[in-house]
Amino acid sequence: MGKAFGVVAGVGAIGSLVAMKKSWDPLPSVKAAGFTTVDVSGFEANALVVEKWRGKPIFILKKTPEMVAAQSEEQTARDIKIGDDSYLVCIGLCTHLGCIPAYAADETVFKCACHGGEFDASGIDILLPPPSPMPIPPFKVDGTNLVLGEEGPEYLKMKEAGVTA
Ligand code: FES
Repeated sequence: MGKAFGVVAGVGAIGSLVAMKKSWDPLPSVKAAGFTTVDVSGFEANALVVEKWRGKPIFILKKTPEMVAAQSEEQTARDIKIGDDSYLVCIGLCTHLGCIPAYAADETVFKCACHGGEFDASGIDILLPPPSPMPIPPFKVDGTNLVLGEEGPEYLKMKEAGVTA
């Protein structure tokens, strides 16, 4: 009898633990949102890092001071400042038909092997057939962290200026 009561009490306890766990779980929308946090503090300048966010390659390129100094306004407008450094952050898919361009560090150019399209180090299309720059994904800067998938103030400013697409 005592044993049977113990088993019933045990099942009851598990039931309430399951109920408690449900209330601890994050909301489904937060889980599905798929944020990716990248600490860029150890990144080398002019060395491309490729991260993955929502199944897509994300290019992160820390620029050298020389690259930044030689930029046009259009290129600078797409820079993301993290600390004292400027970065390109973009979805690494060619805007022609979706191939993944390779980065030629010696030329600071992205080259797409599929049909010969090229992008500069700011992700702007410079040689056809790509019709537009590689888009900048939603991001937030948090110290030396880049949070992909979150729309921070820096991203919203760039979006308003029309440089993210
Ligand atoms: S997919 Fe890149 S040039 Fe065609």
